[in-house]
Amino acid sequence: MSNSFKGLKYALTLGSDPQNFLGKWWIPSLLRRLPKGSRRKWALRVLSLSPHYFFGDDPGERTLDENLEVRFRDGSRSRKKICDLVLRPVLREGDTVLDYGCGPGFLAVAAARSVKKLYACDISVGALACAEIINPAPNLEYLRADDNGLKAVPDGGIDAAYSFAVIQHLTDETFERVLANCSRKVKPGGKLVLHIQLSDEVWKTEDEWKADTSVKGKLKFRYGLHCFGRTAEHHRELVEKHGFTDVKIEPLDPEVAKELNGTQAEAMLFATRALGG
Ligand SMILES: C[S@@+](CC[C@H](N)C(=O)[O-])C[C@H]1O[C@@H](n2cnc3c(N)ncnc32)[C@H](O)[C@@H]1O
Repeated sequence: MSNSFKGLKYALTLGSDPQNFLGKWWIPSLLRRLPKGSRRKWALRVLSLSPHYFFGDDPGERTLDENLEVRFRDGSRSRKKICDLVLRPVLREGDTVLDYGCGPGFLAVAAARSVKKLYACDISVGALACAEIINPAPNLEYLRADDNGLKAVPDGGIDAAYSFAVIQHLTDETFERVLANCSRKVKPGGKLVLHIQLSDEVWKTEDEWKADTSVKGKLKFRYGLHCFGRTAEHHRELVEKHGFTDVKIEPLDPEVAKELNGTQAEAMLFATRALGG
């Protein structure tokens, strides 16, 4: 497929906020109007329109829909493994949990199996509509990650908040907004678990991305097709500024790195909501 056709496809689905893939109103509206029996097929097709989710690969011998079912199974298996390795040791059965930037909900549905209640939020209305169809669970609620959507999550009512494959796409300003929301929702003594990207010689910093004035650089910056490297110290500073303490940054488990197609520079940040903050 030519790059300009791909570009046109993404443009038709982008929401107004930065990095908002599948953010257009017509996506949830279309999925709601479809007969129940064909919603899953169309949700998977919609997800294949976005580079953040099922990036359109060559289906080879398979039909498009057969290939999307394979991608669905890969996504479920991979996020379940990440859940087992990283989240299960942190989560407890009676916990109420927040997934920040849940995308199509693979990790959320896996984590929901081991806790009492899971809220999963994202800025993309299309990703949320697809998640509700392909990854539902009785104790799982999908929400818009804005002030209105997050009203459903009780302030100080969350035992643990986590975020995977999100923070590295956010500017410092947006990262701080996410941290402020987590700080408001997570109860004192509750946990924060973030998958992050440390800076190395490969990953440009936010300032370096901003200095790239080429059309390609600007588009990648606007639509989150980039990763920002941040130093461990910078992550620590931002997280502590928003009321978290006992910050630990650990290298990614090699098994998890494999699932995420991870790089040497990826890491996990664990922190605790300060008791008095
Ligand atoms: C690469 S996907 C990761 C999805 C999921 N966490 C996973 O690991 O499978 C990144 C997600 O972050 C979401 N996102 C980007 N900026 C966000 C923000 N400010 N608040 C909430 N979600 C955001 C995107 O819409 C997208 O669904």
